[in-house]
Amino acid sequence: MFSRIFVRETPEGMASRAARAIQKKIMENNEKKIPTVLGLATGSTPEPLYKELIRLHKEENLDFSLVITFNLDEYWGLEANHSQSYNYYMHHHLFDHVNIKKENIHMLDGTVPLELIEEHAKKYEEQIKEVGGIDIQILGLGVNGHIGFNEPGSSLDSKTRLIKLDDKTRDANQRFFKSKDEVPTHAITMGIGTILQNSKACYLIATGPAKADIIAALYAASSPNEDIPATALYAHKDVRIMLDKEAASKLPSSVKPIKSLVSESIYAPKTSVALQFFPVSEHSSSINLTQ
Ligand code: F6R
Repeated sequence: MFSRIFVRETPEGMASRAARAIQKKIMENNEKKIPTVLGLATGSTPEPLYKELIRLHKEENLDFSLVITFNLDEYWGLEANHSQSYNYYMHHHLFDHVNIKKENIHMLDGTVPLELIEEHAKKYEEQIKEVGGIDIQILGLGVNGHIGFNEPGSSLDSKTRLIKLDDKTRDANQRFFKSKDEVPTHAITMGIGTILQNSKACYLIATGPAKADIIAALYAASSPNEDIPATALYAHKDVRIMLDKEAASKLPSSVKPIKSLVSESIYAPKTSVALQFFPVSEHSSSINLTQ
């Protein structure tokens, strides 16, 4: 079971929680003059997170000049300037608004021809390793349990590769396109093994009622299985699950809030050893939990 599940009232509350943790890591590393490597997701869920990071940059001078990023995935077949490409998304929602250096941005290329994908993917893996891995990997969650575009059935040690998108994923993402036919059938995605082996910490974020069932299923699984790719995170030692109230609404009643702030509860599984909780203010950058 995940021992660190953070639940906030709203998606913005969840975003603020995640942004403060990212801010803390960036500031610590900036102080030491070392880069912070972030793994980034796209889609609706991280939008408020990126908005908050932009606010922290503009209003609190959060300095992105040493930040290095690797995005999880890209639709195969979309040019970088296509309005639904993840390249476009990232520039629009984050990169264009902070002082990140262009050369520090790493995105998979959706226009790579089939025969060159393997090479492209291998280079991406090498680049992640060259910078010493990912400090914080942000992960969204598909309604089918995917992380990145690792659809159900993806092996737990899968690497960056071309993947056929699940019908459920194309249905879910149809909302961004004029019709389902326009949703690409394939994507290039970091693998589950890539994520597990290279990320020092993983933040799985999910908001809204549409994620409640899969969050409940993920919680119930309690060990890795390929049917729900996000269960692979049970094999990682530093995972935080960050939810809004709606995404958390189907967690079992055995999962009780043990402490509440104005907009946050930390849920702890009944069976886990007691968590010590040190209350912090809404704007504090860290919550300490020890088991
Ligand atoms: C996208 C990605 C996907 C999404 C997931 C949820 O980069 O990695 O796993 O995070 O499909 O998408 P939203 O947030 O739109 O519900």
